[in-house]
Formats: sequence, structure tokens, C-alpha cells
Amino acid sequence: MAVDLSVSWLGVNMENPLYNASGVMCRSREELDAVAASAAGALITKSCTLLPREGNPEPRYAKAPHGSINSMGLPNAGYQYYLDYAKAYDHQGGKPLFVSVSGMSLEDNLEMLAAFRDADLPCLVELNLSCPNLPGKPQIGYDFEASSHVLSEVVKVYHKPFGVKLPPYFDPVHFAEMASVLNSFPSLKYVTCINSVGNGLVIDLDSESVVIKPKGGLGGIGGDYVLPTALANVREFYRLLDDKHVIGCGGVKSGREAFMHILAGATAVQVGTCLYEEGAACFARIRDELAALMQQKGYATLADFRGKLKTM
Ligand code: SIN
Repeated sequence: MAVDLSVSWLGVNMENPLYNASGVMCRSREELDAVAASAAGALITKSCTLLPREGNPEPRYAKAPHGSINSMGLPNAGYQYYLDYAKAYDHQGGKPLFVSVSGMSLEDNLEMLAAFRDADLPCLVELNLSCPNLPGKPQIGYDFEASSHVLSEVVKVYHKPFGVKLPPYFDPVHFAEMASVLNSFPSLKYVTCINSVGNGLVIDLDSESVVIKPKGGLGGIGGDYVLPTALANVREFYRLLDDKHVIGCGGVKSGREAFMHILAGATAVQVGTCLYEEGAACFARIRDELAALMQQKGYATLADFRGKLKTM
């Protein structure tokens, strides 16, 4: 049986549902080009700020026994760099390009979004409401009132469909509260679940030390550690959101986890820690594993099993 991995959503046509999580392999043109040249179905830029940022002091990423910890602090080349990349990008012949935006203030977000609006490019924005690594700055996604305020200002400036990257939630009341905020914005068409699980602590037993420098060693956790939390967030937002797509992110390292995210309701799936550790070759491997798993289970398309998670 032939397996079709393609997915079309919001005018975006992807050959397969996989792309990089914003933050991994997407700070420079060269990195973005490498994702574009890989078997990924799309690519997304590093979350950009109004001005270029060096980010937090190094070491700021470390592999952990079951995943990773990072406190990058939004190192990026400034939004103009990614806007220029998007302007020069071959949108007709190339893979879909997404742009991640993460201003240090609401005003910065509005200024960047106005510039992307005016450029009128065929790329979807992912507004990051969930970076856990900016000392002194809380994650907006954990403040429902602040999220609602940000989104109500954003939609005054940015009229195209867009998405938000959310932090992980851990309580059904919070899923429902955030879903209710998001449901009140019709042009908000997708959510990406989840950003890293913020402010975890990885300890190296031998050296009796933290493994990254910023924030006393606290950082966002990714990889195997976060898969169940990511799946829960995908599932709950898939159930609770009206007419919006959910993009799964968290713990994807093979076709099996990609399948689980889609079964939970994900339209497409981002890869973070595994891409960081393995490089862009992971996309062809995960794609082929997903196709083989679908074949084995008798599914011809992603729609055949998307969201069809069984409960007891
Ligand atoms: C970072 O740059 O610190 C990671 C970005 C994020 O988690 O949103």
C-alpha cells in the first residue's frame, strides 16, 4: 500500500508533516538552508526580536540523560535578517517557510508584525508566547489576562492568519482557560504545543554541578522527558479549540512519537532536541519510520488516524 505523508493546512502544502522546532537549526541563513535542503516538510526561523541578541552566556545547552536542557535567551540576528531571508526565499519552488516572532515587549511584537504584514509574504507567523529563558521576564502564556491583551493588540495590527507557541500546561482548568482566550481570536489559526518545560534543573552527579550557566542552571527541558506532557497539550488543545490547528512539538525522535502526536490531533510535527543532536538527517529517518509504521498499521494518509486517539 502506498503511503501519502502530505498535509495541507492554511494554504501550506507540506510533503510530510515534519519541520524544525523554532530555536534549532534556524538562526542563520546557512542553517535554514540546510533544513530546507533536508527531508523536512517545512522550516521555521529562530524566534526573532526587534534587535539582534547574543543571548545568555554559554554553556547554555546541554544533552541530558533523557533529553536536553537549554537556556539560550533568544540569540538571534534581529527580525530584519529573517524578514530579508523570507523576502529572498523561493516561496513557489521551496518548502513552506514559517517565521517565529518573540518580541521583548508588546510594542516590539507589534512593530515586527507590522513589518511582516507590510512585506505581505506567503509565510505564516508563529508568535512565541512562551520563552522560559529570559531572566526576569515571565512566560506570557502562563498569564491568561496578559495573553488576551497581547492577542487583542496583535490582531489590530496583523490581519493575516497566524499561530502562537504555547508553554506546556499541567492542569485541566488552565487548558480550558487558555483555550477560551485563544478561541476568541478567529484569525489565530494554529497553536504549537509545546515549548520546552521551563526551568528544570539537570545535575551532573560526578561534578556535583549544574550543566548550563544561565539562571543558576535552570533551563527549558526537551526530549524524552517532555513527550507525555507534549502529547497531553496537543490532545487537550485539539479537543478544546474551535477551528484551529495544533502543531505538535516535544519528544519526537522517531516515527513512533510523530505518529503519537498526530494520533493526539497534531496537523504537523516539529522536531527539536533530536534535530539538535542528530542534525538534519533526522528528518529523512523519522519520515521513513512514520511511513513504515503507517504501512504496518494499514493507514494510507495522516487524516486516516489524526485525532483518533482511543480512550477507555
Ligand atoms: C531560547 O532562545 O531561550 C529558547 C526559545 C524558547 O524557548 O522560546
